[in-house]
Amino acid sequence: MHLWWVYLHILGALLFMLAHGASAAVVFRLRRERDPDAVRTLLRLSQLTVGPAYLALAVLLIAGIWAGIEIGAWTGGRWWLWASVGVLVLVLGAMYTLLTPTLIRWRELVGDAGTGVDATELDVELSKPGPMMGASLGLVGILVILWLMVFKPF
Ligand code: HEM
Repeated sequence: MHLWWVYLHILGALLFMLAHGASAAVVFRLRRERDPDAVRTLLRLSQLTVGPAYLALAVLLIAGIWAGIEIGAWTGGRWWLWASVGVLVLVLGAMYTLLTPTLIRWRELVGDAGTGVDATELDVELSKPGPMMGASLGLVGILVILWLMVFKPF
């Protein structure tokens, strides 16, 4: 049974990356895209994938926590497990402070199709460094969590 929980945990991680990859691609593309209609479409695409990404994250977390309980890893001094939870919390903090509020602001700026968009303000907002910092922290977080899972260094 334990292997099935590990299977679900890895499946959750793969599905999360599949869904969240859309947000990642959008935030990289928006460094150069300045056409309000294209910006609006890209932001909608990212928004559509947030729900599925949360669902996959829940599967990843529930199965991972349970797999850890089954082998007594939470109380067995396997600090790599606690460290990975710590890194995940840091990445979520980066998402909620550097990415989510900025994308909300961008959505407000482009509004619905047909509303006037201030091109200069849009350019200033899309050029801010926060989202790229958040994305970089997210990527580093993925590398560190994967390293902790595979090498179990402490
Ligand atoms: C372990 C890795 C990651 C986790 C757990 C994670 C999780 C999250 C969560 C929970 C949100 C909040 C969604 C909301 O607004 O409710 C979010 C937003 C976002 N993340 Fe990540 N993320 C990770 C890595 C990344 C990476 C590597 C990138 C980009 C290269 C990225 C780009 C974004 C973007 C663009 C948003 C805003 C989505 C939107 O509002 O449409 N994330 N992330």
